[in-house]
Amino acid sequence: PNIIKAQNEEQFNDIGAGIVASLLQSNPKALLGLATGSSPVGVYGRLVELYKEGSVSFAQAQSYNLDEYVGLPSDHPESYRRFMNEKLFNLVDILPENTHVPMGSSPDPEKAAAEYTELLQQAGRLDLQILGVGLNGHIGFNEPASELHGFTHVVTLDESTRQANARFFSSIDEVPTQAITMGIASILHAKQILLLVRGAEKAEVISRALNGPVTTHCPASLLQTHPNVIVLVDQEAGRLL
Ligand code: F6R
Repeated sequence: PNIIKAQNEEQFNDIGAGIVASLLQSNPKALLGLATGSSPVGVYGRLVELYKEGSVSFAQAQSYNLDEYVGLPSDHPESYRRFMNEKLFNLVDILPENTHVPMGSSPDPEKAAAEYTELLQQAGRLDLQILGVGLNGHIGFNEPASELHGFTHVVTLDESTRQANARFFSSIDEVPTQAITMGIASILHAKQILLLVRGAEKAEVISRALNGPVTTHCPASLLQTHPNVIVLVDQEAGRLL
């Protein structure tokens, strides 16, 4: 992969947003695969600024998010749909009908997952997939396992993932136990992948993902098999690279 080490947070966000903005400038109808969580939040913030300055438009773009919690109403403060609306979609000119997030609030999550697979297949290859990595090596919510799923599916979250995300909820008991996530085949099908990694606590996992064996027990290691990956790290996360 192409590893870029940002000197500071501002540079990290500038570089990440710059990659998305240049794609949209050359291909206004780009299909964007988006992630939530703390890793991309500053990049989305910078994209909003670029939009306000008139440097980038999402008017013809389509977005497909990686994942969503099962069982949270879509207006729940911690739902990924709400995160995306608040951090990006409501602040730029993307058309609401062009934004897609798995329907975790569906009474039938398995069906919602199958429908999302269908939607992605109809869309065709995503031009750029933004990813973060979990402390356990997950991408999307594809948790370490002896087998991984190719397409969108319902997963049971690892306890470690629930604990890592408990900081956003009032207690661990409120963190959903399941999620709908895009599968590994769909993620790897994107033309280009931008993996965003911040903070000292990610140094070990990103080094293992990029330099360790390719194994389903570290789903991010499968990115080694993709020909067009940019890994954007800050100084702390990039310490072992
Ligand atoms: C979020 C997602 C997750 C996160 C990962 C890192 O849509 O798919 O894989 O990217 O859990 O989360 P943060 O960025 O909060 O450390």
